[in-house]
Amino acid sequence: MSDWIVFFENNYIPLSQAKIGILTHAFHYGTGVFEGIRGYWDADAREVNLFRPLEHYARWRRNASILRMALSPTAIDLTEITAELVRRNGFEANIYIRPLVYKSAQRVGVCPDEKFDYLIAAMPFGAYLDTEHGIHAGIVSWRRIEDTAIPGRAKICGAYVNSALASEEARLNGFDEGIFLTESGHVAEGAAANLFMVRDGKLITPPPSDNILEGITRASLIELAHDQLALPVVERSIDRSELYICDELFLTGTAVELSPVTRIDHRPVGLGEIGPLTRRLRQVFSDATHGRLPAYRKWLVPSYQHVLAGLPA
Ligand SMILES: Cc1ncc(COP(=O)(O)O)c(C=O)c1O
Repeated sequence: MSDWIVFFENNYIPLSQAKIGILTHAFHYGTGVFEGIRGYWDADAREVNLFRPLEHYARWRRNASILRMALSPTAIDLTEITAELVRRNGFEANIYIRPLVYKSAQRVGVCPDEKFDYLIAAMPFGAYLDTEHGIHAGIVSWRRIEDTAIPGRAKICGAYVNSALASEEARLNGFDEGIFLTESGHVAEGAAANLFMVRDGKLITPPPSDNILEGITRASLIELAHDQLALPVVERSIDRSELYICDELFLTGTAVELSPVTRIDHRPVGLGEIGPLTRRLRQVFSDATHGRLPAYRKWLVPSYQHVLAGLPA
C-alpha cells in the first residue's frame, strides 16, 4: 500500500504515520461512523470530480449524531479537505474516499464518553465488482440488522459485522454477492449496496423502513430514472420470491456503482442477461458520474479547481 497523504487528527500526514492506540473505544466496540465517496478521473480536463461529496458529508454528519458525535466542520469544509487530499496526493485516477468519525477515548468500558476524532483517507480505486457482465447473487442466511438493534441507515462500524458475515457467506457459497432479508422476511438490500428490481416496466426498491441504508446512489438513480427515462419508481416491500420472477434486478452503491444481477439463487433473472432498462440506467448513471449530462454537473465537485468558496454551508 502506498504512503498516501491522509487527514488525521487535523493534519495532513503520511498514512504510515497515522496510528490509533490499541485501547481506542471504536476499535473495541465498533463505535464509529464511516462514509464512502467516489472521485472520477476526467483525463481530458485532468480533473478528479468528487461525486456528490456535499450529500455524503451531510449524511455522515447527520448519522454521526446518532452516536452523539457532533462534527464541527461543515459539509463544505469536509469537501475542501477532500479536494486538498486529492491535490496533495496528485491523484490522476478514479479514487475512493473513506471518512471515519470514531469514539477515540483510550480505555476499557463499553459506555462511550464525549471524546471523538475523525479522519479522511483517499486512495486510487477501480471497479468493486465486475459490473460489465451481470453478477450471481444469493440470499444469505443472516438477517439484516433491525433499526431497534443497530440503526442500519447509518454506516456504523459495528453494524458492518452483519455485512461482513453476509458477503463472506455469499462468496464461500459461490455467489458474487449476498442479499439480506429483514427479520420479517422482506428483501432489504445487498451486503453493501441497495437493490432495485424491474417488474412490468416499473422500478421497485425497498423503503427505508425495511432497514436499508439510505443510499446516495439509490437516491441518484431514482432521480435519473424519473427525470431522464420517465420511469415510474415505487418504494415498497419486496418478497423473496419476487426476485425469482422479476424482469431485471440490480444493486447500487458508491463502491458497486450499478451492478446488474443476472442470476439469483441459481435462477436466471429474466432472460439471464442484462436487461434493457438496467442497461439504459447504467448508461445514464455513468453519463452523470462522468460529467456528460449537463443537468447533473451539479453533482460533481472538481478537486483541482477551487470552486467551493461561496457555497452555502
Ligand atoms: C449496507 C449498505 N447499503 C447500501 C449502500 C449504498 O449506499 P451509497 O449509495 O450511499 O454508497 C452501502 C454503501 O456502502 C452500504 O454499505
